[in-house]
Amino acid sequence: MTIQVGDSIPSATLNIMTADGPSAITTDDIFKGKTVALFGLPGAFTPTCSAQHLPGFVANADALKAKGVDSIVCLAVNDVFVMGAWGKDQNVGDKVTLVADGSAAFTKAAGLELDLIERGLGLRCQRFSMVVDDGVVKSLNIDPAGTFEATSAEKILEQL
Ligand code: BEZ
Repeated sequence: MTIQVGDSIPSATLNIMTADGPSAITTDDIFKGKTVALFGLPGAFTPTCSAQHLPGFVANADALKAKGVDSIVCLAVNDVFVMGAWGKDQNVGDKVTLVADGSAAFTKAAGLELDLIERGLGLRCQRFSMVVDDGVVKSLNIDPAGTFEATSAEKILEQL
């Protein structure tokens, strides 16, 4: 079942790329005691994700933080090396933390899977965005496959 507003974020261990290489990060590390703008997308280096979705959050990072967001986190079912390379390519700096859900543990636990097997992309994550307050989902937006509208940084700004 898909995660809903009012639900707690499922526990999972994810990975981020650091200056010292890949590092595990838990959902507690990400969400405990913080207001987090979390968005997920079908894949690093894919057209809409690279041209619109991630750049929108980078461009609006300061505005989101001015509205009380402590951190902005982007999640995809990609490995941590791909996510690290994408972050460099997109010049995210410290504005957005790119989190690799390489085995889709978080994505499956949140019921946010996107089946792109027929397209040769395997199991991915739906395009979504949410505001999470101390581990509890406060707002949730999901874009139907192949669309990008409800999950933008601008929409999250309106919801804060
Ligand atoms: C896109 O972001 O444009 C995209 C994502 C997954 C598959 C194909 C395209």
